[in-house]
Amino acid sequence: MHRMHAYDDDTEELARAIVAYARNRIASPQPLDRVAPAEELERRAGRTIAPEGIGWEEALRIWSEVLAPATISTDHPASVAFVPAAPTKASVLFDLVVGASSTIAAGWIDGAGAIWAENEALRWVAGLAGFPGEAGGVFVSGGSAGNLSALVTARHAAAERRGGRPARWRFAACDTVHSSVVAAARVMDVDVLEVPHDERGRLTGDGLRRTLDADGEGVFAVVASAGATNAGIVDDLAGVADACADRGLWFHVDAAYGGAALLAPSVRPLFDGVERADSFIVDPHKWLFAPYDACALIYRDPALAVAAHRQHASYLETAQAQATLDPADLAYHLTRRARGLPLWFSLATYGTDAYREAIESVLALTRATADEIRRRPELELIMEPDLSVLLFRRTGWTSDDYEGWWRRVLDAQVAFVQPTSWEGERVARLCFVNPNTTIEHVRAILGTMA
Ligand SMILES: Cc1ncc(COP(=O)(O)O)c(C=O)c1O
Repeated sequence: MHRMHAYDDDTEELARAIVAYARNRIASPQPLDRVAPAEELERRAGRTIAPEGIGWEEALRIWSEVLAPATISTDHPASVAFVPAAPTKASVLFDLVVGASSTIAAGWIDGAGAIWAENEALRWVAGLAGFPGEAGGVFVSGGSAGNLSALVTARHAAAERRGGRPARWRFAACDTVHSSVVAAARVMDVDVLEVPHDERGRLTGDGLRRTLDADGEGVFAVVASAGATNAGIVDDLAGVADACADRGLWFHVDAAYGGAALLAPSVRPLFDGVERADSFIVDPHKWLFAPYDACALIYRDPALAVAAHRQHASYLETAQAQATLDPADLAYHLTRRARGLPLWFSLATYGTDAYREAIESVLALTRATADEIRRRPELELIMEPDLSVLLFRRTGWTSDDYEGWWRRVLDAQVAFVQPTSWEGERVARLCFVNPNTTIEHVRAILGTMA
């Protein structure tokens, strides 16, 4: 047996070291860590890929001592930049099982058990949005892949319906939509029909109707956000659903970040109308407490996705003759990791009530933080939060001040924060998803802006 594939004493020692590392990583608080320049890593790590190998002890040492400390711990409770992560312990541990299992979760023929469990999790997600029982979907790598795959399905369905293509295909969206939606348009070589947003940055049914009435040529879909990333705002989903229904347009909802809040009674009414979408996405690696990478992509009618995405190859014909809905057929991919399994295992372990409580606690922290900002004279809230993102300004600060701020705060290991822009102004942004983030973390961050 080749030594790389033998389970010998050395492998046993490696297994112990890896499990010990992983255990320590999730058992004890980890530092936030920092950003390091490539030259520094080059110098400290040295040459790691060599004909004779450097051995696992040395590779693991380099990872632990040099590379891991130069990699931000996005699950740290004071990591509140971009959209952070907060995977449950069960989900992270089961991810090790997924890695060890060599499951190809492309089709039922070789991934039945794993796909069954993923489908359980997908059914639960679909149910949160009020989708019918025939809905179905697949876990893809992230929101970008989910949005792209949904829009490819939408365009294919529109082409079938109209029996041809217009001069240019377009989909309608506001400029507050996630950048991955615009990237999908580029990949698909379609145009984005920009709909003006309201004062909170929302796509509304009225705004959409006005834009489509003025020029709706070639439009095959509308993309709404349920938790737009920059400000965490939920679009007027019910109004958009009405406008799409009137015009026979595909209604896609990007709930990659915000979809977790479907579980939270305190904000659930904001999502009214999502049940009428043709497709929607939620990223469990954001606020549903799963490890990277996973996006649940759900279709009202999965047959339309199969028509758009199924690949044809002679070596796949037997597999495709089975009467199953195969994950490979529902998005732009073939081979896939069973990346929905950590979410499934964690949901099964803790139960959905624990998820609801954790998400409500994050929403409560967001409201407490808004109060805290209002109490501080040097800070101004830009708008009331819908979900768990806060935008606020530090009066008198320039762009450079915000830039210096995030670096200073990370150097001091107080927090990982990033500024953003709102209506052309540089402002501060906090995004919460971690139930372990406390008001003390928040006060420490706000204290750095005094
Ligand atoms: C609303 C929204 N959509 C899509 C994406 C893209 O998701 P991913 O980074 O998983 O590709 C993000 C990522 O932050 C997002 O917040």
